[in-house]
Amino acid sequence: MARARLTSALVLAGAALLAVLVLVAAAERQESSPGNDDLMKRQRHHPPVARGLSFDFYKRRCPRAESIVRDYVRDAVRKDAGIAAGLLRLHFHDCFVQGCDASVLLDGSATGPGEQQAPPNLTLRPSAFAAINDIRDRLERECRGAVVSCSDILALAARDSVAETGGPSYRVPLGRRDSPRFATQQDVLSGLPAPTSTVPSLLAVLRNINLDATDLVALSGGHTVGLAHCTSFDGRLFPRPDPTMNPSFLSKLKQTCPAKGTDARTVLDVRTPNAFDNKYYINLVKREGLFVSDQDLYTNAATRPIVERYARSQREFFDQFGVSMVKMGQIRVLTGDQGQVRRNCSARNPGTRVHEGLQWSSSLVQTVVEAAAERLGF
Ligand code: HEM
Repeated sequence: MARARLTSALVLAGAALLAVLVLVAAAERQESSPGNDDLMKRQRHHPPVARGLSFDFYKRRCPRAESIVRDYVRDAVRKDAGIAAGLLRLHFHDCFVQGCDASVLLDGSATGPGEQQAPPNLTLRPSAFAAINDIRDRLERECRGAVVSCSDILALAARDSVAETGGPSYRVPLGRRDSPRFATQQDVLSGLPAPTSTVPSLLAVLRNINLDATDLVALSGGHTVGLAHCTSFDGRLFPRPDPTMNPSFLSKLKQTCPAKGTDARTVLDVRTPNAFDNKYYINLVKREGLFVSDQDLYTNAATRPIVERYARSQREFFDQFGVSMVKMGQIRVLTGDQGQVRRNCSARNPGTRVHEGLQWSSSLVQTVVEAAAERLGF
């Protein structure tokens, strides 16, 4: 009798143990399987690839394209760390105005000032323009002809500039085509926010190109490298100092820029000027951001928690920076038969007709003519 009771007690205990094990296993399974939150997090790390772009676009026609760009950027950055900042900014100025179509590389024309002559573009580094043309020449020799577009070179060179200065690397979707038409000065002024902008107007500009507050804060982290002229921020020094600015930072800036309009430059990231890291956000928390557009990311309650997050975690900043750069790099891209692959990044291909805002590359003309002929039954 006692033995029977003992047996049933053991069976019951066994069953209970089994039930507990099953429950634990189920809970573990649930944890490791992607729930909604996980899925959303992972999707944020892989922004959708725009139609017409792909990661292996040059696999057959120029398989070494990415390593040629990377090697070039590596050598160039070793010789002059500043070129990394120049290349990164060039890609940003290309994408925010008329999309990532390399229009910013087009020299002005006889008919009037071009995109490059618009005020925000006057401080782009000449060495960065030259680097893009050098890379293009190398690619032309390696892959025999105009295969890799100037807009793709810009996207890759920006990515590699970030990586070469210590930042994250990320995969860049490829297959952009170049526009034969540069933007107007008005397009540049409305596409590129001024350094005096506060968060609401920055967000309004970004909203037009489908970027949000997180993208704004992460992309502004590009200011962890490079230089700025006094004239871009001296409204914060004169006539009265901006009260949001750290006083000792202010007096340092006044040494470089003693009067309004001084022609001098200073570093964007006072802590680690040539390293791509999260110190930019630490500067903001310490009220040592250079532009109003930087410092206001911390002053404004909507963006402040994002700044604090990246100041705490470089890894989170790097992850989001890669995501936001891929998003930025796909703004209004031309693909397929649109635009052209330029033979010289500074000039549209000879024979391209540009007519009242319409872009006619020879292949596009051919497509339109063929389609019309087909409709007419030729
Ligand atoms: C959010 C709005 C932005 C504003 C208002 C802004 C404004 C500026 C200004 C005024 C300069 C200095 C120009 C000069 O005085 O020489 C500058 C430099 C720079 N910007 Fe931005 N920028 C913004 C976003 C970005 C983004 C999204 C990136 C890249 C992801 C970027 C990367 C850079 C870099 C690397 C430099 C230094 C360039 C060099 O040293 O040649 N900026 N920016």
